[in-house]
Amino acid sequence: MSVPIVRSVAELRRRVAEWRRESLKIAVVPTMGALHDGHLSLVRAALERADRVIVTLFVNPKQFNSPADLAAYPRTEQDDAVKLAPLGAHLLYSPVAAEMYPDGFATAVSVSKVSEGLCGAFRPGHFEGVATVVTKLFLQTGADLAFFGEKDFQQLHVVRRIARDLDIPIEIVACPTVREADGLAMSSRNGRLTAEQRMAAPKLAEAVLQAAEQLAKGGPAAAVLAEATQAILNAGYQRVEYLELRAEEDLSPLGTGEGPARLLAAAWLGSVRLIDNVSFQPNLR
Ligand code: PAF
Repeated sequence: MSVPIVRSVAELRRRVAEWRRESLKIAVVPTMGALHDGHLSLVRAALERADRVIVTLFVNPKQFNSPADLAAYPRTEQDDAVKLAPLGAHLLYSPVAAEMYPDGFATAVSVSKVSEGLCGAFRPGHFEGVATVVTKLFLQTGADLAFFGEKDFQQLHVVRRIARDLDIPIEIVACPTVREADGLAMSSRNGRLTAEQRMAAPKLAEAVLQAAEQLAKGGPAAAVLAEATQAILNAGYQRVEYLELRAEEDLSPLGTGEGPARLLAAAWLGSVRLIDNVSFQPNLR
């Protein structure tokens, strides 16, 4: 058994129009496929809030910085459809690239401020690609609610900004990061780790969590972050792109003694780039 798959905007709109005639509440869960328990938790959360849930699957070429990363991205559509069916998702919208970006496509959605720094500094064009495809998915599905994971915390801010700034009548619902038993944040990229790298991978989450705990207790920020960076490198990561403190509400750089904060990190383990973040109440010095 698997969930029905729709490939064209026209067919998607036809199904959505039927649901609208019945006054049903519609949710969308945007994904790039290779579904794991993190995605499935978004679908479950969506099913609790909506009558109909559309999961989208589109490996969006516009948000990849490197052709190698795009080529290596796992594509497992049939498995994904089978995973979704028992949950009760109603539709898998899986368009081909020509449906999303037909010949002559010339529009980009660009979000400033929240997309600057962090991943935005290391992945030029990434958030413009995300913003463009997410805007299209919001408009194509016409959903009332959209579900995103907090693992991609900067992306969450970008999509919130799009909905607000473009007056798209959709509620953005944030769901907590889902972790493996050893703490590693679930990601479609985890499957690309070698056995040895997989053993080392949870050290990123561990270091970020421990650093956040120390900061919450008033540990000195510079020393805590330096120690956490070293712990990540000692675990076998080759490079820490960033380990930064930001205000949870708007991702602005954190001063001292402010409200809820996030500690966000990105690091490379072999050819795999992993990200993580954790919320904490700062007690900065
Ligand atoms: O988080 C993802 O999987 C992607 O960035 C998204 C939101 C589906 C847009 O392609």
